[in-house]
Amino acid sequence: MSDLNLSTATFKDFENNTGKGPNERAELFSRYVADWKSRGHWNYRLESVSGSGPELELALPGSKLKTVVSLVSSDYLGFSRHPAVVQAAIEGLLKYGSSTGASPAIGGHYTYHREIEERTAAFFSRESAMLFTSGYTANSATIQALLRSDDLAILDMAVHASMYEGCQLTNLRTFPHNHLGKLERILAETAGRYRTRMIIVDGIYSQPADMAPLKDIVQLARKYGAMVAVDDAHGVGVIGERGRGVVEHFGLAEEIDLITGTFSKALGHIGGYVVANRALINYLKFQARQHIFSVTMTPAACAVLKSLDLIDQEPWWKEKLWDNIVYFKTGLDTLGLDTGNSCSAIIPVITGSPALAAEACRLLLEAGVYATQIGYPAVARRNARVRMSVTATHTREHLNHVLNAWEWTANKLNMKRKELCPPQGKSIS
Ligand SMILES: Cc1ncc(COP(=O)(O)O)c(C=O)c1O
Repeated sequence: MSDLNLSTATFKDFENNTGKGPNERAELFSRYVADWKSRGHWNYRLESVSGSGPELELALPGSKLKTVVSLVSSDYLGFSRHPAVVQAAIEGLLKYGSSTGASPAIGGHYTYHREIEERTAAFFSRESAMLFTSGYTANSATIQALLRSDDLAILDMAVHASMYEGCQLTNLRTFPHNHLGKLERILAETAGRYRTRMIIVDGIYSQPADMAPLKDIVQLARKYGAMVAVDDAHGVGVIGERGRGVVEHFGLAEEIDLITGTFSKALGHIGGYVVANRALINYLKFQARQHIFSVTMTPAACAVLKSLDLIDQEPWWKEKLWDNIVYFKTGLDTLGLDTGNSCSAIIPVITGSPALAAEACRLLLEAGVYATQIGYPAVARRNARVRMSVTATHTREHLNHVLNAWEWTANKLNMKRKELCPPQGKSIS
């Protein structure tokens, strides 16, 4: 690996370079980061001195403070700054203190945990739910507890990294993103060969930003006797008449074996959940190692009780979000930029080259816009992109600023433009 080309390498190349111990890998990785920084292409872990919101004040290298329009947050409804949500967190902290002191099984299970579990189950009109410290853990711990060496996980290739992590103790097959034909082929080929087969998909995919054809997936699962798990981290609060996500959009509340998700996006806090039947949830409470041997959500999580209320009580946040999504996506499409198949609050501009994505991000930042470059392994190299998320709290002024910045950037980089597409309707909200 000494011949690694640092300018084209990806994070993945440093995971386990043959013959190199942790210190040698870290040294090589430091050189890689320094190389990116020298080209102005490093925009990870930029420090914000302000909290989450449509604008951020960034402490850029050299201690310059720069106010930018932020497109990096999944706080889709702006609830992390909603006064009632913040107040609920404060009251939770005042009532219960700042920590839970123990894992849930041995003393760290509080009234607010039970309330959030019950409210989360009711939100999805299901029997039971349980909490984890993050959406990542909810996924990885659940799959790890349920699927073992006799079982098979069948993953859409584009599912979140946490689902892959959960599959380390089981057998794994993947199918190309949203390719139902390939999924059916795997189901047919593996019939009778495993104790349990579980199809694992996202509701809204975090990089393609599109939706799983969940109705068809459920039909295939029933036909071939497989279970279905859906991680709808990016759909909840955004998709569906009542903001219950992709499961609601397809009218499948009863049909999905496991719904997982996070409180860290539209619900404005942190923490993860799993929703399922009562027996499965009771089993997971004592078999998911990350729940038994780790504390769960802190008392500030009382914020979540308020944000679950607000999804119903203040529907205008979702309406505002969709006005912004449609406005912004139409603006990018009008510039001829490639926004892929996005049908959510995540809107990429696909550059097709990691270097172009990095250079676009550098120019956007210069123009006062913070967006992130995404490359392999999160997406294939040819699908490298600039990833942006729209929120309900962006104003027209913010979005116009970003669109102007994109026009300037695309001209400067001589980016390929598509033929103009007709504006997408807000049909799926
Ligand atoms: C689809 C998906 N699932 C799960 C997660 C993890 O959620 P959390 O940040 O709560 O760990 C993410 C986070 O980016 C995600 O995009």
